[in-house]
Amino acid sequence: MAKVNRVKSRNQTNITAVFPGSFDPFTKGHADIVERALAIFDRVIVGVLHNPSKTYLFEEQERVALIAKHFERLGDRVAVESFSGLLVDFVARTGSRVVLRGLRAVSDFDYEAQMALVNRRLAPQVETLFLTSREEHSYISSSVVKQVATLGGDVSEMVPAIINQALKRLYRHRAK
Ligand code: PNS
Repeated sequence: MAKVNRVKSRNQTNITAVFPGSFDPFTKGHADIVERALAIFDRVIVGVLHNPSKTYLFEEQERVALIAKHFERLGDRVAVESFSGLLVDFVARTGSRVVLRGLRAVSDFDYEAQMALVNRRLAPQVETLFLTSREEHSYISSSVVKQVATLGGDVSEMVPAIINQALKRLYRHRAK
């Protein structure tokens, strides 16, 4: 009889994935990737990039706080941390070996594959895994959200409620 190799029970290993991005702002597409990843990984760390030479709509700590608030109900299965510098160094600090990214369309692939290859050169032990976006999220990007919100459009279908409120506050404030 053929020997069946048993897959190690998930309880024996604790796998954390790092989901990095600028998240300026965090969208429903991002949120969905994190939630679906929790069916595969024990924990997800959302890594919020702070690049000092870039101007953001939301400051680093505000992006972290908003995302953390959105996932509050999931307890410690989702952590949110900011990082600057190399992603692979951040991943090493967390003890994880998995980088998770979302893919919306073929057009995302070139950039994502290049990043994954660079990261593998820098840290061969780190694997990049991709989850494809849901169809209904495939048109959503942080830049589209920013553009529509700046022009006073409704982005409630594109971002979690807490982000929508923050965007409304921001633009109300700026309009004054
Ligand atoms: O949401 P984004 O802006 O597409 O995310 C890009 C991100 C943050 C994953 C990427 O820019 C990144 O990892 N930056 C950190 C710097 C780094 O490690 N660069 C080498 C890989 S190209």
